[in-house]
Amino acid sequence: MGKDVIIALDFDSREKTLAFLDRFAGEERKPFVKIGMELYYAEGPSIVREIKARGHKIFLDLKLHDIPNTVKKAMAALSRLDVDMTNLHAAGTRAMMEAALEGLTRPDGTRPLLIAVTQLTSTSQERMERDLLIEKPLDQVVMHYARCAAEAGLAGVVCSPLEAGKVHGACGHGFLTVTPGVRFAGGEVGDQVRVTTPAKAKELGSDYIVVGRPVTQAEDPVAAYRRCVAEFVG
Ligand code: C5P
Repeated sequence: MGKDVIIALDFDSREKTLAFLDRFAGEERKPFVKIGMELYYAEGPSIVREIKARGHKIFLDLKLHDIPNTVKKAMAALSRLDVDMTNLHAAGTRAMMEAALEGLTRPDGTRPLLIAVTQLTSTSQERMERDLLIEKPLDQVVMHYARCAAEAGLAGVVCSPLEAGKVHGACGHGFLTVTPGVRFAGGEVGDQVRVTTPAKAKELGSDYIVVGRPVTQAEDPVAAYRRCVAEFVG
């Protein structure tokens, strides 16, 4: 898979989601989309099947984190939904990641790309030390989790575009970096802290950018999506 822009479908209902996707009906390039907890818990697996049937690639962002056996079984259920990418928390340990891969692999040996969340971008150094008792620099923690994910056989990690180069340095260029925290120059930052533009994310080596509000809340979402693609994919 090459570089691509993934639109985060952060909507609370099927109606709003499909109305949004209808705007892209005439587009030659069907956007790769991300379904997160909000939409999945509101609408269940049928929304995944419906969006898939419309021809979109899907990143199912449910961030699994449980004992290895439970994650393995849950991943087996997700693999039958035929998504293109899904994820879990690297903090669940290497044993959990290996079990997840096993569960996700279909009888024919194929599987969706499995990506690990390292430390959430909402976690600061201070909170990590105070609440998680992890007393190492945050970027070292992210790199360690990325290496564990690579060793477990995962396809890549979710990280900040600012960390993409380091992750590729530690885990190789074939190891994917999926990066949220993207804003247009001069755009609203919202609750994201470390942001970059699509062009900068490309320069930093991100493989996929995940873009939510700059596209979903834009006056003209199709134009905003096209702008992301032009800047990031070229
Ligand atoms: O609206 P915005 O562009 O900030 O959306 C970013 C998307 O990426 C959201 O769906 C958010 O849940 C997701 N995400 C993130 N940071 C992570 C993991 C996922 O922003 N570390």
